Amino acid sequence: MTAMLEVRGLTRRFGGLVAVNDLTFEVNEGEMIGLIGPNGSGKTTTFSMLSGALRPSSGTIAFNGERIEGLKANKVCRKGLARTFQVVQPFPDITATENVMIGAFVNTGGGRQAEAKAREELERVGLTPKADTLAKELTLLQLKRLEIAKALATEPKLLLLDEVAAGLTSTEVDVMLKLVRQLNTEGITCIIVEHVMRFVMNLSHRCIVIDFGSQIAEGTPEEVLNNPAVHAAYLGEEASIA
Ligand SMILES: Nc1ncnc2c1ncn2[C@@H]1O[C@H](COP(=O)(O)OP(=O)(O)OP(=O)(O)O)[C@@H](O)[C@H]1O
Ligand SMILES: [Mg+2]
Repeated sequence: MTAMLEVRGLTRRFGGLVAVNDLTFEVNEGEMIGLIGPNGSGKTTTFSMLSGALRPSSGTIAFNGERIEGLKANKVCRKGLARTFQVVQPFPDITATENVMIGAFVNTGGGRQAEAKAREELERVGLTPKADTLAKELTLLQLKRLEIAKALATEPKLLLLDEVAAGLTSTEVDVMLKLVRQLNTEGITCIIVEHVMRFVMNLSHRCIVIDFGSQIAEGTPEEVLNNPAVHAAYLGEEASIA
């Protein structure tokens, strides 16, 4: 069986800096993969390349057997690969529903259809009570829910979650954990980038650890947590792995 996502030798340079260095990994359908590493290790850059926002310097990305590296973000999105953004940036002066409609336009025709889709996704992430609230009036947890709803509205098979638990209180992390687990039960495969270890370790079937753009470990959450190389990479980090 071919993997849903096959990444081979993925590399991205910014001038002299190698932000992502020769990454090779696979993600199978239904899996929850944690992609972790210290600040600046190349996680968001990896997501940007997978989602078509950034062109790889070299390497290949195959999604459901089809090569997608270098494709524009809207094309990648239509194939069923969506991401959330580390820094949530909704349009502040329109409602939650209208923000999600922007994602819904990817696969739906007219405005009414997109609105129905948006309301459906808001329901799915538990944001129905705020459907008609302006985005600028939402709390951080609600904004994170909105960010996920926007991605869901594009009907992803593979969802890249970039720090959806960051900045949340412990109770809110639990709420988000439940939501993401629910999405997986509904058939969505996820790659989870996260510094909140409790979140990513609870959700992931398998973790990939990167440092300075290169993979340094891979295994079950327990295996990577017990890996000395992983501890060394996180030494001095604010978000300690322990
Ligand atoms: N557009 C860019 N131009 C130049 N350098 C960049 C650019 N984007 C990222 N970088 C650099 O590439 C490296 C990887 O950054 P990236 O944002 O992928 O890290 P990250 O693992 O997501 O970090 P964090 O955990 O802090 O979000 C960093 O050194 C960063 O400064
Ligand atoms: Mg990042």
